[in-house]
Amino acid sequence: MNPDRLIYLDNGATSFPKAPGVVEAVARFLEREAGNPGRGGHRLTVAASRVIEGAREDVASLLGADPERTLLGPGATFWLNTVLSARLRPGDRVVTSALEHNAVMRPLRELEASRGVEVVVVRGDDPDGLPTADDFKHQIEATPTALVVLTHASNVTGAVLPVAKIARAVAPVPVMVDGAQTAGSIPMDFSDIGVAAYVCSGHKGLLGPPGVGVLLLDENFEVEPLVRGGTGSRSESEEMPTNLPDCLEAGTPNGPGIAGLGAACRWLTEHGVVNVSEHEQRLVRRLADGLREIAGVILHGWRDDASHTGVLSFTIAGQDNGELAARLDRERGIMLRAGLHCAPAAHRRLGTFPDGTLRAGIGPFNTEDDVDGLVGAVREFSILSS
Ligand SMILES: Cc1ncc(COP(=O)(O)O)c(C=O)c1O
Repeated sequence: MNPDRLIYLDNGATSFPKAPGVVEAVARFLEREAGNPGRGGHRLTVAASRVIEGAREDVASLLGADPERTLLGPGATFWLNTVLSARLRPGDRVVTSALEHNAVMRPLRELEASRGVEVVVVRGDDPDGLPTADDFKHQIEATPTALVVLTHASNVTGAVLPVAKIARAVAPVPVMVDGAQTAGSIPMDFSDIGVAAYVCSGHKGLLGPPGVGVLLLDENFEVEPLVRGGTGSRSESEEMPTNLPDCLEAGTPNGPGIAGLGAACRWLTEHGVVNVSEHEQRLVRRLADGLREIAGVILHGWRDDASHTGVLSFTIAGQDNGELAARLDRERGIMLRAGLHCAPAAHRRLGTFPDGTLRAGIGPFNTEDDVDGLVGAVREFSILSS
């Protein structure tokens, strides 16, 4: 297999390649800036602090957030756990969608068991599980609700949820959005969508390295830390500082990862998320059009008239998803993901549990040739099996 012909279509799991400038920023940090930020006053510490605070500004500016309320931590999962644990007290009620990733579902189920939190899952009438603003409104009307948490887009089908509309419908109940599948891939202005908290991964649509996630907080939404430790500030105290970002950012941060994320956000700002979005949507439509012409292929949760990310799920009647994914990789150099994509609830809702789907995830650096390569290979494999 010619390594130049490898086709990466798993951007829903993590983006590859990363944005131009990311590798250089990571290397520069490790070679020239790798002090421990905020700990001491020597030049490498100052250099590291400058990189981290610069990256925070770059992330905030891309996502329309206040840098002082933009938190950088180890990942989206960490921030989702932090907010859920901080905001859900014993006996509280939380409303969520049926399309959530386990990064939301597992902490919710744990809080249900350990604190008696009531978890209400909005199934909606829509065949693809897409909830409407009215579905959420209906759920919070009769009973006091502490929090609404929902994904901005399904990581299984790519369908985008109307989060701003839902936030307006459930106000004043605070809403946390899981933007792991959308940040950097579809335009989002945090100052405008009216949600209390927004969480995303640095390594997916934001095109940075793994090991960094982002939490954006509205000015009226306070969150207790999940993890406590050194911050470099108020070292005389055995209590956590109460000011942001220190109160939520305990421990040495992932300097190289954050440096890379800053570079990625600068590239996205320059290139334009709207252009990324248009590119990915054009290619995912091309993929949907190509795949649905093939006998036996079923698209899951795809709609021509709906808003989508670059993610598309499909199956081929009578074929095993795992074997197909392995063949695509081995014989054609095409990388995509088979299975449940850490979202069993979504597959139950879509009727694809327990086998799951094959999921293609298009990124900003994919081309028409990549999409056509996948369509061609699926056509050939499905003919051979019939
Ligand atoms: C919708 C959604 N939420 C949360 C996560 C968790 O992100 P991370 O693994 O970067 O913490 C993912 C990752 O796949 C996701 O797709």
